[in-house]
Amino acid sequence: MKRTPFMAGGLVAVGALAAAAMAGRATAAAPAVNHAIAVLQPGADGKVKGTIHFHKASGGVHVQGTVSGLAPGGHGFHVHEFGDCSAADFTSAGGHFNPKQQPHGAPDAAQRHEGDMGNITAGADGTAKVDYTDSQLGFDGDGSILGRGVIVHEKADDLKTQPTGNAGGRLACGAIGVAKPE
Ligand code: CU
Ligand code: ZN
Repeated sequence: MKRTPFMAGGLVAVGALAAAAMAGRATAAAPAVNHAIAVLQPGADGKVKGTIHFHKASGGVHVQGTVSGLAPGGHGFHVHEFGDCSAADFTSAGGHFNPKQQPHGAPDAAQRHEGDMGNITAGADGTAKVDYTDSQLGFDGDGSILGRGVIVHEKADDLKTQPTGNAGGRLACGAIGVAKPE
């Protein structure tokens, strides 16, 4: 019976702490995210890796980075629904990120999955560089790419076959995380 007042007092104290924490959050809002990063890990072949930066830019998100260990030529390059690279074949990343229920398409198409970044092209040395501004990617609301996954594919995305672009297997995967603002 003597414990009841003690517990009640403890709950009041916890409530006061929570209220203080909420007040603190309200007065010091976290800065808006303007930079995100995906570090791509190789799949079963152990070769393909890279780092992709996403910066908020005028007209969209600037996508910039390097992927190495590829066969020369085009490779499908997408934001997938989940930032889950746990399955050996990376199917855990789900399908193309498509919050607006659009068909698969080219990066410059009027209708496309938000995650349709098209292809990256590896040279004879197996390295592909990415450097373009994407008008549909974003960091806010339902369309936020934060926490989603980046996948590099075995084959080129043909930019028309539904819903995958027929880009074949998944060679590398990385979750998109919040990076230090710059
Ligand atoms: Cu993909
Ligand atoms: Zn797509």
